[in-house]
Amino acid sequence: MTDAAIRKEFDLFFCEKLAKSFGGLRAVDGFDLELRAGEIVGLIGPNGAGKTTVFNLITGLERTDSGQAYFERRYITGLPAHRIAHLGIARTFQNIRLLGQLSVLDNVKVAYHCHARYGLVAAALRLPSFRRAERDIARKSMAFLEFLGLEGEAGKPAGSLPYGRRRRLELARALATEAKLLLLDEPAAGLNETETAELTAVIRRIRSELGVTVLLIEHDMKMVMGLCDRLVVLNFGRTIARGTPAEVGADPEVIEAYLGRPKEECVKQADGAETAEPAPPKQPLRPRRLDERR
Ligand SMILES: Nc1ncnc2c1ncn2[C@@H]1O[C@H](COP(=O)(O)OP(=O)(O)OP(=O)(O)O)[C@@H](O)[C@H]1O
Ligand SMILES: [Mg+2]
Repeated sequence: MTDAAIRKEFDLFFCEKLAKSFGGLRAVDGFDLELRAGEIVGLIGPNGAGKTTVFNLITGLERTDSGQAYFERRYITGLPAHRIAHLGIARTFQNIRLLGQLSVLDNVKVAYHCHARYGLVAAALRLPSFRRAERDIARKSMAFLEFLGLEGEAGKPAGSLPYGRRRRLELARALATEAKLLLLDEPAAGLNETETAELTAVIRRIRSELGVTVLLIEHDMKMVMGLCDRLVVLNFGRTIARGTPAEVGADPEVIEAYLGRPKEECVKQADGAETAEPAPPKQPLRPRRLDERR
């Protein structure tokens, strides 16, 4: 695709043919994705399908073996992670990463600092520009805590929060970078049904009130199906389907690989010979790890 075509069609993010091998294992193989501003797109697939690796390639945590990525029409392939973050792509991790000893507010402020506009000299001399920036950071950090309903816990050590609240704090930290694109890696892992519903509402508000575009990895199919505009399905590193949740949910290959139905039934359904309720997964899609439980 030419640069002009990219500019015309993809206003936020575009990548093609991303690939990553670890030794002989092709973890990601020819991954293509385009995101328009304001979308919520789900990246789903079985354990080990390559979803987190895709996030690592997009955010510069891992170097892609081949392919290219553009963010706001800028070529970002090969940029270091901090440069990509600075351009406006933020992420959360599958396992919570917080500074447990620091207060909830300080955790957000630290995340904000990577965008601070003062230099080292201004900081060392506590120049007015530094003090202004500090006040601004504290005010904005508090606003993000309020957005996520964490303002009452601002002074508590982050490590003392219950699990679901720590997940929220992770979101606040990611948003504090003033990202335009937010990559969420299994944000509902370890949450109960009520917390998952609340998280779904928060992600909707992140889109509608903050205008942030979301790429979401999640195994909770109820959440994914209800929240995402579009889905991309990975299996063994390759994209096996893409489309609306309804299209993907009815795709025989996806059902076979991920949603856990025998292929014959799906073929029957596709032929119209038989209609059936979508079956629940045959087995837990991924056993929850201990550190994901409260
Ligand atoms: N740094 C690494 N070194 C070696 N192999 C890796 C590395 N990172 C990922 N892999 C392998 O690449 C494959 C894809 O892993 P990845 O973590 O991207 O899967 P995933 O879709 O996120 O799975 P899950 O749903 O379990 O989180 C797996 O087989 C994994 O073991
Ligand atoms: Mg993963």
